[in-house]
Amino acid sequence: MVNYKELGLVNTKEIFKKAIDGKYAIPAFNFNNMEQMQAIIQACVEEKSPVILQVSSGARKYANQTLLRYMAQGAVEYAKELGYAIPVVLHLDHGDSFELCKDCIDMGFSSVMIDGSHHSYEDNIALTRKVVEYAHAHGVTVEGELGVLAGIEDDVVAEHHTYTQPEEVEDFVKKTGVDSLAISIGTSHGANKFTPEQCTRDANGVLIPPPLRFDILEEIEKRIPGFPIVLHGASSVPQDLVAIINKYGGAMKDAIGIPEDELRKAASSAVCKINIDSDGRIAMTAAVREVLATQPAEFDPRKYLGPARDGLKKLYKHKVVNVLGSAGKA
Ligand code: G3H
Ligand code: 13P
Ligand code: ZN
Repeated sequence: MVNYKELGLVNTKEIFKKAIDGKYAIPAFNFNNMEQMQAIIQACVEEKSPVILQVSSGARKYANQTLLRYMAQGAVEYAKELGYAIPVVLHLDHGDSFELCKDCIDMGFSSVMIDGSHHSYEDNIALTRKVVEYAHAHGVTVEGELGVLAGIEDDVVAEHHTYTQPEEVEDFVKKTGVDSLAISIGTSHGANKFTPEQCTRDANGVLIPPPLRFDILEEIEKRIPGFPIVLHGASSVPQDLVAIINKYGGAMKDAIGIPEDELRKAASSAVCKINIDSDGRIAMTAAVREVLATQPAEFDPRKYLGPARDGLKKLYKHKVVNVLGSAGKA
């Protein structure tokens, strides 16, 4: 059993408070391997941004949770070595049981999400409350969720969004004691967040997705003023990177994300954590495809994973500087 403080990690309490007061959002980037971790840390150190390193169920299966925890511990030292000690949170993304959250807390995670959004309201409260009691006894912060995102979440597929009901948030926060709340206002996981049929076209034929439900967000903020809100499914699916993937043999069809100006608007509200995974996957894949297609004799993984890491770092720097506004806040 190890406490996150011994690893040099921080929980989300202070960085969320500063983010709400300062009207910006903390980046929560998923990682599964060394190159992703390096790109995240390099970008956030260079831009002096706090960062949340997220570990999903898929990441735990792929890379092993113990290895990822040691990598996060290494990330704290790596940041110092690069010249600036940024606050680093190690967060469990979409935890689905008390046992899993406890396991992560016991091995040094500083923050966990318990996603009870697929359960009934009462069961979600009971499960979240149980996790909060254990987590808080160890100084670990907890993210809960109300409302269901359309698409795939936690291996559960939902055809439509179930938007967060503002009438429930105050009661949920009070009864569970959570430190932050993920909400559903029209974002979803993955690279195909909207069908072309759901979009309109501008004068140049570019697809414009339907806007996020900022009316719901405003209503939530009125009911729990100053409380930290989290946005999942916040990738923007950069079309220049999708074009590179498709140019070099990929087949990403109808890939549409959340416009960055909407995320900027969200970041300046009570939204203080923005989750981005798919955009990183797209940046890596674009770089790997380009190298393998243009240098077919290459077989050293460093020759394509290196450019993939550079592409990722460029993307993350853009996010913290131009979208989330967290640059210079560490
Ligand atoms: O919430 C979803 C994240 O993008 C993680 O997905 O379980 O495939 O790693 P994953
Ligand atoms: P994206 O698929 O939009 O990157 O969302 C990631 C996420 O919400 C992780 O929890
Ligand atoms: Zn998510």
